[in-house]
Amino acid sequence: MIKMNNVLTIILAAGQGTRMKSDRVKVLHHVAGRPMLHYVVDNAGSFSSSIVLIIGRQGEMVRESLAGKPNLKFIVQEEQLGTGHAVIQAREEILKHSGPVLVLYGDTPLLREETLRNLIKIHEEKQAASTVLTTRLEDPTGYGRIIRDKAGNLVRIVEERDAGAEEKAIREINSGVCCFDSSLLLEALANLDNKNAQGEYYLTDTIAYLNDQGKKVLPYLIEDYQEIIGINDRKNLARAERIIRDRINEKHLENGVTMIDPATIYIDSEVEIGQDTLIYPFTYIEGKTSIGKNSIIGSHCRIKDSKIGEAVNIMDHSIILDSQIGAYSQIGPFAHIRPGCLLETETKIGGFVEIKNTTVGQGTKIPHLSYVGDASIGQETNVGAGTIFANYDGEKKHQTIVGDKVFIGSNTTLVSPVKIGDEGKTGAGSVVTRDVPEKTTVVGVPARKFVRKER
Ligand code: UD1
Ligand code: CA
Repeated sequence: MIKMNNVLTIILAAGQGTRMKSDRVKVLHHVAGRPMLHYVVDNAGSFSSSIVLIIGRQGEMVRESLAGKPNLKFIVQEEQLGTGHAVIQAREEILKHSGPVLVLYGDTPLLREETLRNLIKIHEEKQAASTVLTTRLEDPTGYGRIIRDKAGNLVRIVEERDAGAEEKAIREINSGVCCFDSSLLLEALANLDNKNAQGEYYLTDTIAYLNDQGKKVLPYLIEDYQEIIGINDRKNLARAERIIRDRINEKHLENGVTMIDPATIYIDSEVEIGQDTLIYPFTYIEGKTSIGKNSIIGSHCRIKDSKIGEAVNIMDHSIILDSQIGAYSQIGPFAHIRPGCLLETETKIGGFVEIKNTTVGQGTKIPHLSYVGDASIGQETNVGAGTIFANYDGEKKHQTIVGDKVFIGSNTTLVSPVKIGDEGKTGAGSVVTRDVPEKTTVVGVPARKFVRKER
């Protein structure tokens, strides 16, 4: 890949996005778990020396969502008077810049980094005044059309609403992505007017201007029309989601992950999965999740913001949220692991167990039908079927501490705050209200020390 470090990228994101019918700014709507704008910013970030974001008056949320990303500058476009007017807002930045200027839209998350790099490369090699990314569409309705002369040279771009019947029949369209020589861009912008059907300053009119001045304007035509899909409404959004998810799954398949039916598996864009992991159909893996090698993720599971070790077996219908699962562990079926759990290696959380905010030591098993909340459990402990950690007294949540090699009998209730020492035991059905010292067995309701009667 070529190295570029002198590209100024201007991303237009000031538009209202009215057609989304939403209270949320359009560019912050999510595609595969991330705001669409983040795809654009991250792509640009890989080759731009600086990025200017043109935001609208309500752009505070946009600014916040991008906090922490490097080399970003925000400029507010008070009134949305068109794409050309939007780019003029970055005049000072363009003046300071000597290399190429790339203009992108915040609502085109499907564009590949590779495509943008190629566009810049061609623009530089051919020493063009402007290079426009174009594609051909079955149905070009709504897009600006690419007008070429008889020799095939780009002459101008005409917007749908300004186009005559003959122009409307043209299927080659303007993607909106365009690379410019910085000083010629400023000159062309200074010569824009708004005498058109929408009364706007069109960035696209810079092409006709530069061409009339005898400057070189080039079209860069790409095959994959999907890349340039702009998100204007929820139908486009759903389509983009499908395309991005296919791309994500393909990447994991290439990396050695097996998916029995990729079309039914939903993986967010930041998820990492190790080689030889197997994923069954109808599973959703969200947020910042990572999964180690050789794991099995069953059907109908949902895993969010979690770290799963290697060779973990997550059986069907399990939910794991904001937790860590150590290597060689077994989860489910029908386990509900709520936020804040840290399971060490070789643990077992079995069927119909709900667990939250709890650490579970190595080799510990909670195999069936339990509720475990706000606890710390040691190593090689066994929690019998139907055990309840009664952590809530109606007002407050309390902690339970269970040591190593403890045996909790079936149907025990641990009324917290309470502590069970190492190698302690509880009899089936006991209700434990006081601490149990180590190596001690308690039974009954309320549980007391079990003393074997002499005969
Ligand atoms: C634009 C192009 C059209 C192209 C299409 C591709 C122009 C005049 N037309 O049309 O040739 O085929 O994109 O999707 O450029 N924006 C601002 N400030 C403004 C106006 C727009 O920031 O004052 C932003 C919008 O938020 C959006 C982008 O610019 O991200 C494009 O604006 P939009 O109104 O959607 O342009 P189109 O009509 O789709
Ligand atoms: Ca658009």
